[in-house]
Amino acid sequence: MSSCVSSIIGTGSYMPEKILTNDDLSKIVDTSDEWITSRTGIKERRIAAETEATSDITSEAPRRAMQSAGVTPEEIDLIVVATVTPDMAFPSTACFVQKKIGASNAVCFDISAACSGFLYALQVARHFLNAGSRATALVIGAEKLSTLVNWQDRNTCVLFGDGGGAVVIRASDEENAPGPVLSTVMGSDGNLVDLLKVPGGGSACPITPENVTSRPNTIHMEGREPFKHAVTRMCQASEKALETAGLTKADISLVIPHQANARIISAIADRLGLSEDKVFMNLDKYGNTSAATIPVALDEANRQGLLKRGDIILLVAFGGGFTWASSVVRW
Ligand code: UT7
Repeated sequence: MSSCVSSIIGTGSYMPEKILTNDDLSKIVDTSDEWITSRTGIKERRIAAETEATSDITSEAPRRAMQSAGVTPEEIDLIVVATVTPDMAFPSTACFVQKKIGASNAVCFDISAACSGFLYALQVARHFLNAGSRATALVIGAEKLSTLVNWQDRNTCVLFGDGGGAVVIRASDEENAPGPVLSTVMGSDGNLVDLLKVPGGGSACPITPENVTSRPNTIHMEGREPFKHAVTRMCQASEKALETAGLTKADISLVIPHQANARIISAIADRLGLSEDKVFMNLDKYGNTSAATIPVALDEANRQGLLKRGDIILLVAFGGGFTWASSVVRW
């Protein structure tokens, strides 16, 4: 197949039923709805059931995406899952998803790039499609971050939630096919690994009876530094992605940014000179779901009818590593 365009042809998302409000959290740690709302914009988040693994969250979102795209599981020949909360160290969560949705013709693997994971996965899948080696892919961002949260640490436990989102992308020879990803810009800075991490549970620091009580297998974050880097890197990546696509800020119909903090999103909108109605936010309902924020927001914007054929959509993310990425899509 000599295709050169990869287009988003369907979106889907799934959020667990259980809601944890700021008031609920104020009964667990020394915090308040007022503090969380004013510093982050978050009002509540979803928490997956104990019996729900990331692949369960992950499987419902692609089912909905395939339905919206009108494709069958057999047509999917690539599944890329972005997650930092895989079901297990191995097999990949993508293989569990393959089994659960019956996509028996797919090649499956995971990507780890924290909150930038979905856009990294989209770019990897796009390269497979553009090179002609695969035709139809599921790109998924899904997390069960509640398993990585230290519920005694008020600095972090108020920020995160569980959920999953997915898109179906398809290679096309048609220049005017709807939904093409026009450009993607990515970056990483491994010098800053220590500012946002889960230090334990991997090969560097396995969990032992001696260290388990200090909870090394939970999220550790120096909040202020990621905040500053997030604003700078997301603005730079957005500008570069637009330039690469041959577009300007004036062409943007909607920005779908990573949902970590409403103040980060406002700062980006300010610097890009965009009014609030051009920036999609749903973090009040879900908090930060890492790799899931962008595909979930994209699906909600799509189902709310906010995306019109021909619209220019800017996706932009920032996360642990640090990692960052931005993609421009013509709807
Ligand atoms: O997803 C990828 C990247 N992640 C991010 O980009 C997250 C970036 N960081 C942030 O969103 C913000 O830095 C936070 C929301 C984490 C923190 O907001 P902040 O305005 O930077 O607060 P701060 O860290 O400067 O803390 C201010 C105060 C501290 O008290 P003192 O030391 O001034 O007395 C904290 O102990 O707020 C205190 N605090 C809390 N108080 C009530 C921290 N967490 C809480 C809490 N409730 N949950």
